Amino acid sequence: MTQQQFRTPVLRRSFLKPYPVAVRGEGVYLWDNEGHRYLDFSGSAAVNFIGHSVREIGDAMAEQARQLEFVHTSQFTTPVAEEFAQELLDFAGKNFAGGAVYFTSGGSESVETALKLARQYQVEIGQKNRHQILSRQQSYHGSTLGALSVSGNLRRREIYLPMVREFAHVGIPYCYRCEFDCTDGCRNCGQQYAAELERAIQSAKGEVAAFILEPISGATLGAATPPPGYVQSIAEICRRHGVLLIADEVMTGMGRTGRNFAVEHFLAEGQVAPDILVTAKGLSSGYAPLGAVIASKKIVDAIAEGSGAFLHGFTYNAHPVSVAAGRAVLRRIQELKLVHAADSSAEGTAASALKKALESLRELEAVGDVRGLGLLWAIEFVADKKTKVPFSPEKNFAALVGKVCLRRGLLVYPMQGCVDGIAGDHLLIAPPAVITAEEIGWAVQQIRAAVVETSVAARWSSS
Ligand SMILES: Cc1ncc(COP(=O)(O)O)c(C=O)c1O
Repeated sequence: MTQQQFRTPVLRRSFLKPYPVAVRGEGVYLWDNEGHRYLDFSGSAAVNFIGHSVREIGDAMAEQARQLEFVHTSQFTTPVAEEFAQELLDFAGKNFAGGAVYFTSGGSESVETALKLARQYQVEIGQKNRHQILSRQQSYHGSTLGALSVSGNLRRREIYLPMVREFAHVGIPYCYRCEFDCTDGCRNCGQQYAAELERAIQSAKGEVAAFILEPISGATLGAATPPPGYVQSIAEICRRHGVLLIADEVMTGMGRTGRNFAVEHFLAEGQVAPDILVTAKGLSSGYAPLGAVIASKKIVDAIAEGSGAFLHGFTYNAHPVSVAAGRAVLRRIQELKLVHAADSSAEGTAASALKKALESLRELEAVGDVRGLGLLWAIEFVADKKTKVPFSPEKNFAALVGKVCLRRGLLVYPMQGCVDGIAGDHLLIAPPAVITAEEIGWAVQQIRAAVVETSVAARWSSS
């Protein structure tokens, strides 16, 4: 029998499942057209940071649209873009003083822009051979073909591989399943992974333009934080070899992990910093399509004092209404001190309550690991806790947990493939920073019940 299909005029992500019809949002909640309420425990896909349907953001967007809805960036700039760019440079900190911001419509466009910017920088400084971009296995940098070529997410790449230009992907530290001896708190393994990058740069014989990484893994590996010293070593290796470091903070930027940008957890002021920061998602908190590439002064100087023009552009880059949304969102983040709310190491914050509540799930048989930082966490499921053997991919364990959560009025972000690209199940948790401890408590209870229910069903189906 063929599977039931759900077809509408919208080309949806899947024909195999029905989608609830969302009609309203408020704070941490969403409602569908049948009146069901959902607590948004994943910020959709780690997007919403300030809460849904905040009136001031809508007002700022409407005001901008009434005054000036659009101009083309080949003909004009706008006050809102100029002002927000400076605010973002300030938000990015000292390392980006004197730099510049390129606004796009989202994460993938920003990654594409960063890759081209890195290439043009190398050409401008006379390093014309440098065109390779190195990246990491089990990473995700976007769905356009350039971003996909530097991504390591097997499932999302598989069928498009014949269409993409591939460069080396180096190993990624994944401490729960570390291949090295981690008895020293992973210090040694971090250095081994960093050394692998150095070898890859050397074997590319002067052709590497940039290395791109998510400082904390996003959806693919599920909020895996790097071992101590790793990011610092990576940054130093890149600098030593004339390779630009691009930090993809599409998911982790704009406060999500309790710092303005996640790299700040690992690189103290004065240490080597990324040359380019890429961000999106929380930048507009979902109120409008918006991404940004924040380039350091060195990059901007090379182009400004070289050819004088960045050979790149989208019709909608620096769209005034999107930029107005981003600017109002940043103001809200600062007014409500939401970066602090997202700091899981500070007492009394939403993030510390989240960390504590999620840690309690470790006692469940099917929970192998709980990891993350700030308001970005993952719960990894295993069929056997001792051996860490994952569920067989056909079981679709994380998706089933997600389905039960949805039935209980809770939105989470289930993913598969963290072990090897195919097997391994986890949930990504990334609520808005306005969530309360009470809401967190309720949400974690629903996850607990959903994991127990799914585990029982999984046992039945294999007996
Ligand atoms: C780290 C990272 N980079 C890039 C992207 C792509 O962003 P977008 O989906 O906005 O194109 C994502 C999306 O999840 C992401 O998590």
